[in-house]
Amino acid sequence: MARTLITSALPYINGVKHLGNLVGSQLPADVYARFLRARGHEVMFICATDEHGTPAELAAAKAGEPVADYCARMWKVQKDLADGFRLSFDHFGRSSSERNHRLTQHFAARLHEAGLIEEVWERQVYSIADGRFLPDRYIEGTCPNCGYERARGDQCENCTKQLDPTDLINPRSAISGSTDLEVRETKHLYLRQSLMRDRLREWINSKTDWPVLTTSIAHKWLDDGEGLQDRGITRDLDWGIPVRRGTEPWPGMEGKVFYVWFDAPIEYIAATAEWADAHGLDDSAWERWWRTDRGAEDVRYVQFMGKDNVPFHTLSFPATILGSGEPWKLVDYIKSFNYLNYDGGKFSTSQGRGVFMDQALEILPADYWRWWLIANVPESSDANFTWESFQAGVNKDLADVLGNFVSRVTKFCRSRFGEAVPEAGEYGPEEAAVTESLAARLAALTAQLEAIELRKAAAELRGIWAEGNEYLQRAAPWAEFRTDPDRAAAVIRFALNLMRLYGILSRPFIPDASDTILRALGAGDTDWPEDVAAELQKLRPGHGFTTPDLLFAKLDDARTAELAARFAGG
Ligand code: 2FM
Ligand code: ZN
Repeated sequence: MARTLITSALPYINGVKHLGNLVGSQLPADVYARFLRARGHEVMFICATDEHGTPAELAAAKAGEPVADYCARMWKVQKDLADGFRLSFDHFGRSSSERNHRLTQHFAARLHEAGLIEEVWERQVYSIADGRFLPDRYIEGTCPNCGYERARGDQCENCTKQLDPTDLINPRSAISGSTDLEVRETKHLYLRQSLMRDRLREWINSKTDWPVLTTSIAHKWLDDGEGLQDRGITRDLDWGIPVRRGTEPWPGMEGKVFYVWFDAPIEYIAATAEWADAHGLDDSAWERWWRTDRGAEDVRYVQFMGKDNVPFHTLSFPATILGSGEPWKLVDYIKSFNYLNYDGGKFSTSQGRGVFMDQALEILPADYWRWWLIANVPESSDANFTWESFQAGVNKDLADVLGNFVSRVTKFCRSRFGEAVPEAGEYGPEEAAVTESLAARLAALTAQLEAIELRKAAAELRGIWAEGNEYLQRAAPWAEFRTDPDRAAAVIRFALNLMRLYGILSRPFIPDASDTILRALGAGDTDWPEDVAAELQKLRPGHGFTTPDLLFAKLDDARTAELAARFAGG
């Protein structure tokens, strides 16, 4: 049986994610995982919260909670939202887990043994009032280039000039506003990834089937010299994974933690170990996904992420894996995404602009959002959410096409033949033509999903739904019923089988509606079909069903306008 390991980029712990985050990794990964499961693959689908780093510490402080408590609480919030959106993770872990502590420290030890770690003295800004070193972006001051007063220590947002914190005029702590700052010496571990440039280049060059978005970013970082500079993998923070050399202390590194971007991708592995622990399984259960010496050589590993994450996954994390010298599984395919904008601008947490996952589920059930997001997934370019487009997706695709088909077929059957598949009549040339056309469409849909071309796949699925509606319109069983009831019976039998096919094919996209359809039909086996003609015979004459309630409600103009106004932000 084919085995596929799927990971979605790990959402930061600090705060509920917006729809742009959702469509940039977790949701497309879920569609793919569901598709492969329906195809009979053994799938391991992993995600987790990314819990370390200064933003998490500051968010906890703002909430007035100890950071560990804050992370535990927000993990649950994010887990519940993931469940609400029907993200079918096999495990939703935490980068602060015991497993990740051990594995991260293990990787650091291996990299050290391989001569890939260097100890470097740095000069960094320390805030006496805050009692901590300040990361560059938490130092604010006046830009020496343009005079903007709120420039950050890494970059001026106004003139985009890259800055060093010591360039700033009148620097202050962005956390407390204190100007009581001094430069202190501090020692950090650097990963000498520049030594691995040739190996990484060779590996990336071997990936000829990757999306252009992924390889173009990887090459840019590989070639422009800056991308593969040795990088600091430790920080002077309290919250994080303590720097240790495996289980041993690391002399001179007491009180320091690993950098969040060092430990986060390792959590992909650790979360799989957490999965095994949660199921009472031993290490071999997760190692067969990750260790090529323990069964993972036949695993295909696919990662999903936004484009900003690509450098970390094409260079930094592979540098950790390759540098360890151990037979860990490397990614086989990286599917990356552009950005989703909100009404022509950016989603903004601070300005309350755009729709966040919790708000979305308060407004409408998951399927409505899943459908629009996947139909508009930012694959080849950035995409734009507008309420008008969302309303059209809901009303036209879901309500008028799929919902209407299901409702017309089941209600007509119930009123004329009762709630069982009609027995009379035979399929004729009309049904043969639709079957032939759907066979071609199914082949296209399957190929698009295999290639993770999700926007095209959604368009194909929409076409498959529309074809049923058009067929029903042409075959007009309500008219036939008066003159040729056997013909009407055959049409409805065919249409009920189409409905079953729609339930199966739609499931990766809109799982709840699909389950409603398949349950109503008592559909039984719902594996991804291979042979459309056979599939359209599966519901046999006399097979009972129940008529489902309204599948999708329409979004009217007044409600759409109200939502647009509510989320305009500002
Ligand atoms: O950009 C982000 O949202 C990061 N939290 C993604 C981390 S992915 C992985 F490396 F953990
Ligand atoms: Zn400036």
